[in-house]
Amino acid sequence: MDALIQAAVRVRENAFAPYSNFRVGAALETAGGEIITGCNVENASYGLTMCAERTAIFKAVSEGHRPHSFQRVVVCTDAVELTPPCGACRQILWEFCGDVPVILVNLKGKRREFQLRELFPEAFDAANLSE
Ligand code: THU
Repeated sequence: MDALIQAAVRVRENAFAPYSNFRVGAALETAGGEIITGCNVENASYGLTMCAERTAIFKAVSEGHRPHSFQRVVVCTDAVELTPPCGACRQILWEFCGDVPVILVNLKGKRREFQLRELFPEAFDAANLSE
């Protein structure tokens, strides 16, 4: 199995999801081939929950990675129907990854690949901030 998929499957085990019982793992591949992972982290104050994809991005950025230095994203859940990233995560992924492949997997071996642009068309983009 692709090491990036394996990393997303493995980090999903670390999810802290006692409220939803929906565990998510995400893995980013940097331009240099490094793998950075994240899981969802829930809170008793539900709205404070952090998704797996954003955990991974924020970990990567805090380790010094910068926009457009990622080449692939994998998201792993155990849902029968594959679950693409939520809207907030799509925006954050767009800022740091741009139009990269987003590979969705579940534990039953289902797999589907999208380009981020397909999931997040007409993005709000940092490049368009100047008036
Ligand atoms: N979740 C993610 O980790 N990523 C997403 O893109 C969507 C949702 C998490 C948040 C929450 O802990 C659980 O899945 C159920 O919504």
